[in-house]
Amino acid sequence: MLSVEENERLTRVGPGTPMGELLRRYWHPVAAAEELLKSPTKAVKLLCEELVLYRDRSGKYGLIDRFCAHRRVDLTYGIPEEHGLRCMYHGWQYDETGQCVEQPFEETVRPDAKFKDKIKVNGYPVQELGGLIFAYLGPQPVPELPRWDLFVAENAFRHIGAVEIPGNWLQIMENSLDPVHLEWMHGNGVEYSLLKQGPEGGPGQVWFDHALATSRVYKTPHEKIGFDVFEHGIIKRRVVEGQTEEDDAWRVGHPMIFPNILGGYGGLNLGFQYRVPMDDTHTWHVWYTTYFMPGADVPKQDVVPYYEVPLTDENGRYMTELIDGGDLMAWSTQGPIAKRELERLGESDKGVILYRKLLEQQMALVEDGGDPMNVFRDPVKSQYVEFPRESSYNATSARRAVKAFRYNGTRFSQVVEQIEDLYAQSADAAEQAG
Ligand code: FES
Ligand SMILES: [Fe+2]
Repeated sequence: MLSVEENERLTRVGPGTPMGELLRRYWHPVAAAEELLKSPTKAVKLLCEELVLYRDRSGKYGLIDRFCAHRRVDLTYGIPEEHGLRCMYHGWQYDETGQCVEQPFEETVRPDAKFKDKIKVNGYPVQELGGLIFAYLGPQPVPELPRWDLFVAENAFRHIGAVEIPGNWLQIMENSLDPVHLEWMHGNGVEYSLLKQGPEGGPGQVWFDHALATSRVYKTPHEKIGFDVFEHGIIKRRVVEGQTEEDDAWRVGHPMIFPNILGGYGGLNLGFQYRVPMDDTHTWHVWYTTYFMPGADVPKQDVVPYYEVPLTDENGRYMTELIDGGDLMAWSTQGPIAKRELERLGESDKGVILYRKLLEQQMALVEDGGDPMNVFRDPVKSQYVEFPRESSYNATSARRAVKAFRYNGTRFSQVVEQIEDLYAQSADAAEQAG
């Protein structure tokens, strides 16, 4: 249980708040590159700041204040120019630093006034990596954008999914330090929801049977959970019934990458889940998934496909028969900001407690003028950052993965059939190899 004040300190992310200042020390994804190819501007809310991300005609990205300095019109409707973005209302143009570089009528009637030189809005650095566009809102000097292993791995197939959660970022992150929910929500909860819905309600009997079988694997009770702080965050470990500490789920574990990323999944699909705080009560959740399919003919992707996952079905019901759907239910129904002053923590929450302590410690470090953990200053170290993850691959896991697809958020991806096909190729290759 936390006091109301402690909860505020951990959850509020606006400029000048302790958590807002900590989170401003990191690069955060704000869009998939594909979104900007489809439409050159995107309204972005990040850490309580209203911004517009744009791609100009030269292909350069900019992230500047969303509302024009002149008379506050929305620059999401702006016109991309060769260099910068022009407000549609009276044509003032801004470059990626937020500097006003053109003011058509003013320059005609008062060419000597140099009015435009006095106009500057906020402009933040952006960089593209692995199909995502990252932004940095913190103080100078700007740290390196770390190149996590999955962003740069070769022979992988990728897609990026996202949803906006009507809840504070911390309750979503705490879920990543909570191994026991796997057995309940993704095991018992999915089984219950599937049986309640019946095979008619989903994509068909084959997928239904597989999803049900998977939920029964996940139901296996936990016997032990463990957590270790490491240089990039916290490693999460578990032993479930029938396994020992020699199994990868304990021996290797998988990481929570500080401060707001889950680096998880197992076997064939490895991924990151980014929980990007838009403001105190909204979070942009991103599933970045990378598929390694040995033996399959994995095509090169010029653009990483982007898909949106609906928060609920068309009736406003959380889709708890999907693995991701259960998470969306849990994250959202804790409310805009979880009332931690009312919670009752148990043994299953020791990872959550450790994570809160780590956040508290890192906030204090920033308040003292220090650099918090997992900020990269050395371009050599940030060039390639590899994480431990439990993993196993064989034809059976490939076959299972093919069928799991239709009972997950991935069902909303436009490349789901292509991924299923690659999985099948990979499973065939593994079977042939014996
Ligand atoms: S409001 Fe943008 S140029 Fe006038
Ligand atoms: Fe989960």
